[in-house]
Amino acid sequence: MNICKILLTISMALMLEVQANPETNSHINSEIEILELDVISYENFIQNDPQALITLNTALSEKGIVGIKGIPEYLEKAKAFIQSAQEFNHLPEDIKLKCSPNRDLGECFLGYEVGKENFKRPDGKWVTDELKVSYYALVPNSPLNKWPLDMDLKTPYQELGDVMSKATEAVLQKINVLNDGLSVNGVPKVGRMLYYQKNNDTNTDNPFWCGSHCDHGLFTALLPASYFLDGQQIEEPIEAGLFVKTTKDGTFKKVIANDPDVLLFQVGEFSQLISNDKIKATEHRVHKAQGPIERYTMALFVDLPMDAVIYSTSELTNDERYGNGPGCSYKQWHEASLARYLVKDEN
Ligand SMILES: [Fe+2]
Repeated sequence: MNICKILLTISMALMLEVQANPETNSHINSEIEILELDVISYENFIQNDPQALITLNTALSEKGIVGIKGIPEYLEKAKAFIQSAQEFNHLPEDIKLKCSPNRDLGECFLGYEVGKENFKRPDGKWVTDELKVSYYALVPNSPLNKWPLDMDLKTPYQELGDVMSKATEAVLQKINVLNDGLSVNGVPKVGRMLYYQKNNDTNTDNPFWCGSHCDHGLFTALLPASYFLDGQQIEEPIEAGLFVKTTKDGTFKKVIANDPDVLLFQVGEFSQLISNDKIKATEHRVHKAQGPIERYTMALFVDLPMDAVIYSTSELTNDERYGNGPGCSYKQWHEASLARYLVKDEN
C-alpha cells in the first residue's frame, strides 16, 4: 500500500471515529502522516556495512529516529521486561508506593512515580502528564536503585537495560557524535519504565499521554510500545503512539514500530549542542489511545559525566538552560532541564 492510500485509509477511519464519538479529541480529526521508519539490521550495523551506516546517519539527521533489528537477546529480554512491568503495575498501590523515592529523606528520583512532568501543549498551556507512570532505575544496577520486594522487577529491567545500553553506546560510536575526549564510559544510564494508564474519562483537555518535548540528554534508546485492552495484547491503535517531528520537513509523523525485534534510537539535546546543530534533537510526543487501552514501554537515557564541559555554537546555546558563558557543563544543562519539566512537589 502506498503512502497516499495509507493516509486516505487513516483519514476515513478517523472520520468514522469522530462521527461515532463526538467526544473524540480534535487532534485525531486531522490527517495522520506516517513516518517511514528506517530500520537497519544489527548484523550490518555491527560489521560497519557502508550502506547501513549511511542509513543510520541520514535517518538520525533527517527524521530524528532510527531502528536496529535483531540485536542479540533483545527480543526475549524485552518480552520478559514487559511481562514484569505489567506484573508490577498490577500490584496494589500501597505496595507500589513503597518503591517511591522519599524526597523528605533526600532520596533522588529513582523508583516508582506517577505523573510528575509538565509539558507545553501546542496552544501554549502547560499541563501535567497525569496518566503517565514511571519506574526509574540506574543501569547497571546500583545500591541507589529501589526495587519491589514482592516480585522480581530488577532482573528483567537490568537485563533489558544492559542490552539497550550496549547498543546505544555502539550507535554513539558509529555516528561519531562524541569528540574532544568526551565519553560515556562508566556513566550510569537512566532507565525509565513507562506505563501509560488507560484513559477512562472523556476529558479532551489533554490529547497526549506525553506532550511534545525533546529529551535533554545525549541519546535515548526506546522500546516499541506494547498495548493492552482488558489484559489482552493488541496492535497499536492508529491514533496512538509515538509521533516525531522530522527535521527535514518539520511536521509530526506517526512512527509505526510494530516489530518487537526493533530497538529505536532518538537524539537528545546535548548531542545537538555537541555537534553544533549537525544533528538535531528529536522533538516527539505520545498520543493517547481512545478507550481503556494501556501502553507499556521502556526508555534508556544516555548521559555524559556531569563535569563534562562543551563550547557549542548550536542554536540551543540561546536557550537559558545553557547559561551565559561560552561553555556549559552537562550538570548545568541537566539540572536546568529537570527544573523546567519536573512538577515541583509543593505545586
Ligand atoms: Fe521523551
